Formats: sequence, C-alpha cells, structure tokens
Amino acid sequence: MKEKNIQWFPGHMFKSLREIREKIALIDLVCILLDARLPKSSMNPEIMRIVKDKPVLVLLNKTDLADEVQTTIWKAYYENAGYVVLDIDASTGKNVQKIQKIARNILKDKRERTKKKGLRDKPVRTMILGIPNVGKSTLINRLVKKAATRTANRPGVTRAQQWIHINDQFELLDTPGVLWPKFDDPDVGYHLAITGAIKDGILPIDDVAIHALSFLKRHYPNRLFERYGMPKIIEREIDMLDWIGELRKAYLNKDEIDYERVYHIVLTDIRKNKLGGLTFDRPISP
Ligand code: G4P
Repeated sequence: MKEKNIQWFPGHMFKSLREIREKIALIDLVCILLDARLPKSSMNPEIMRIVKDKPVLVLLNKTDLADEVQTTIWKAYYENAGYVVLDIDASTGKNVQKIQKIARNILKDKRERTKKKGLRDKPVRTMILGIPNVGKSTLINRLVKKAATRTANRPGVTRAQQWIHINDQFELLDTPGVLWPKFDDPDVGYHLAITGAIKDGILPIDDVAIHALSFLKRHYPNRLFERYGMPKIIEREIDMLDWIGELRKAYLNKDEIDYERVYHIVLTDIRKNKLGGLTFDRPISP
C-alpha cells in the first residue's frame, strides 16, 4: 500500500512536511483547512502527528459547494472528536472574520496564565495547513485584505519567517503548510478526483465519472432528476452515461455516444455546482 501512495505525491511534499514541522514550533495554533465536500478525504491522517499537542481550529471551507445538511453533520463529527470547528467560504468571506475571535478563545487559558504572570498579551500566531487546492491562499488573502504589514526576521527566529501582522491580536504565517492527500482508501482518491482536488489524469477519468454517478445515484437521485431528468429506476452507470450523452447530444457519430465527452460533462457539472451543493464523504458510524 505504501509504495502505491508514494507514487501519488511529488518529492517536494516531503520537503514541505519538514518545513511544516519546523514552523509548527513557532506558532500557537494550527488552522486545519478542509474541503467541506470532502471533510474526511481532505484531512491527511498524518496531520495530527505533525501538529502534536498544538491547539487546532478545524475550518470547513467551500461550504458554498457542499451539502448544507452534511456540513452540519461533519461539524458535529469533528466537534465530538474534540475540535473547535468553523464552516467558512473563503471566496466570499463567509465567517472568515470569526476566525480571530475563535482562535483567541481557544487559547484563553494560556493567555490568562500569561496575564497572571504579569506578561504582555501577545498576538496569537497561527498557520494554515491543508492539501493543495483546498483554498489556503484564498483564505490568507481574505484575512490579509485590510490589515497586513509584513514583519520579517524576529529575534530568536533563526530562519527568515514572514509574519503577517493582521492586528495586535493576530499574526499569520504568510506561507501555508501544504500537505498531500492520502489514498489508502480508494474512495478517498475518487472523491478527491471528482471534486478536482487532485488533477485530472491521476485517476482514469472513466472510473472517476462512473464512481461519481454511482455515488449520486445512491445519495442524490433527486439532483440527477433535476439536472438531467434522469429516472430513478436507472440502475447501471452505463445507462446513466447513455442517458446524459443522448440528452446533451454527445455523439461520436450518428448512433455512438462519445463517452469521453460525457465524463467531462458530469465532472464539470459537479465541480461548477450545477447539481447543487454536494458532499462526497460520509462520517463512519461508530
Ligand atoms: P490552495 O492555496 O490551498 O492551493 O488553494 P487556492 O486558494 O488557490 O484555491 C483553489 C481554488 O479553490 C481556487 O479556484 C479558489 O478560487 C477556489 N476556492 C477557494 N475557497 C473557495 C470557497 O470557499 N468556495 C469556492 N467555491 N471556491 C473556493 P480556481 O479555480 O483555482 O481559481 P478561480 O476559480 O478563483 O479562478
């Protein structure tokens, strides 16, 4: 299994991991950014080993593209696991302004101890960690938008670090921590591919599209009906592909469906939210 995983992520990810380990020592709180459509698949299981005992804020991003009901379920899931969780939408800024207050609240006890010792209340230092494409840069830009002065090379920091001084209470490391997704579970790979979290071509597109249709048939049959007028009695994925191919007139010649085109139609529709908010992971019941 391990060798198979290693083919998935490029060598620079190892470098990134080493850098994250170094940076974590400098920060007070880690923001783990997850894709709300994939709250499990976008969570690298290694992350908790890297984070160790640092306080964590779990951010569920891209909630505009996810299924609202599932976002509530996943929020509760991570809360039950002991994390503070916030659902956000980095592209419009929904709930982003709440991050600072929640972060300070998570560190309340530590800050009170500092105060009791008569020491100055320092800004909370945080970094954003997540897999590629989860929205780290979008979130950083959103947080930085108004404030931001950058301060380099503080005393005691051996390597040049760029801190974004958001205000007197909050500082952000300007380079996010990039983690690779992990694919031990084949479903995880498919879910990452369906949503475009990993590049097309990493998994065969026919498998990805068929997996998507099979998932939609089980979990969102009404959406298939609303988008494609697809009857709920269609059982085989091949018949679903034919249905969409005929509807969209995706033909190679007069009678033959151009399946390549149908795969792209299905995946583009999903990624562009044409079927409404969708969530592909389901929490594993205890
Ligand atoms: P990264 O740094 O973690 O790699 O991710 P990045 O911020 O570059 O975001 C990856 C893509 O996800 C971008 O789209 C970005 O606009 C989009 N994105 C980020 N947050 C949200 C969100 O909350 N909702 C939605 N719907 N999209 C989000 P892109 O296609 O690469 O670029 P573009 O569409 O902005 O042109």
